Amino acid sequence: MAFSLKDFSKTFSTLIDSFQKRDGESVVGIDIGTSSIKIVQLAEKKGAAVLETYGEIALGPYGDAEVGQAVNPPPEKVAEALGDLMREANVTSRVGGIAVSLSASLINLITLPTKDENDLAAMIPIEARKYIPVPVGEVTLDWFVIPESESEFLSAAGRTKKPNSTDVLLVAIHNATLNRLNTIVNTASVTPRFYEIEPFSMSRAAYEHDTAPVMVIDLGASGTRVYVIEFGIIDVSHTINRGGQEITHAISRSQGLTFTEAEKLKRTEGLENTEVGKSALDYIFSEARRIFLTYQRQEGKIISKVVLVGGGAQLTGLENIAGQYFDAPIIFSSAFGRVHTPAFIDDVLQSAGPSFSTAIGLALRALK
Ligand SMILES: Nc1ncnc2c1ncn2[C@@H]1O[C@H](COP(=O)(O)OP(=O)(O)OP(=O)(O)O)[C@@H](O)[C@H]1O
Ligand SMILES: [Mg+2]
Repeated sequence: MAFSLKDFSKTFSTLIDSFQKRDGESVVGIDIGTSSIKIVQLAEKKGAAVLETYGEIALGPYGDAEVGQAVNPPPEKVAEALGDLMREANVTSRVGGIAVSLSASLINLITLPTKDENDLAAMIPIEARKYIPVPVGEVTLDWFVIPESESEFLSAAGRTKKPNSTDVLLVAIHNATLNRLNTIVNTASVTPRFYEIEPFSMSRAAYEHDTAPVMVIDLGASGTRVYVIEFGIIDVSHTINRGGQEITHAISRSQGLTFTEAEKLKRTEGLENTEVGKSALDYIFSEARRIFLTYQRQEGKIISKVVLVGGGAQLTGLENIAGQYFDAPIIFSSAFGRVHTPAFIDDVLQSAGPSFSTAIGLALRALK
């Protein structure tokens, strides 16, 4: 599976009424995760993206659970949390980009035997049925043509491109997910300018782009996502069904603590005194290492760095632990480095960078 980062921005323009951004207008990026909502508000000033405010709110308390737990509250409760977050963080903008998790979408790169636009438009809905394993009525379909220059990169990545054919990125998002997100943001009086699949938003903000392949590991609450990205194209994506929540559960079981106590201990002390926490991480990083080695062997390429994103990347001491699994430098997402920020909070923003990568990537695109 592969898809293009650069051109993806066009993909959802047909899904919602988009409108021109006014100069100097503030915009938000909203990332609704399973354990918390993250929001970032940016404005363009003198051609630069300036951070106006940002914040995070745990969803646990809105879903009869603890802070740090993955929950799935009804949309009205999530909207309430979003409203509370916007008030607490003094968010004034009500327009911006909203993240959609990769698991709610199906992405296929397909090659069609024509270069004629009209033929493509006729062929795609029919072709889509072959690739999308659910009734077409259950998903919102979108697609766009990958430009020739990008197609050459794909060929370089081992695909053979037939003459007189077109590479098309076919995207399907479950309607149930879009409807839920729509209900949440509408209830909170937010106007979505676009919906974007998370790895695109995240990688826009998480690291410096160059041509070498990069592995991105998103350490969330309920799970961990692993991507390999090359030439701005996501080559590999993989979900590991363990996340930060398991580490907390492990600490809580082994030390006889409540979930909340264990979560606090994890956030303040890291895994200093707990072997069980380490074993949950070992499972995650061993899987990621396997994906890393398989990619390098199959593609005959070296992954230049491993970028850690997500709340779980804030774990104290993680750099040393992760470093044992990869023969590549470990980088923490420096997402706030993409925007102008007041110097006096640089340290805070440095450590929060991994958590806010998706929200920042969304807000950056909303500014454009
Ligand atoms: N300072 C910290 N140290 C260690 N772990 C932390 C810290 N802050 C947050 N976490 C952990 O990060 C996890 C939440 O990460 P994140 O906010 O990226 O998840 P999410 O986006 O809500 O979930 P998902 O992406 O899986 O839907 C939780 O398990 C939480 O315990
Ligand atoms: Mg997340």
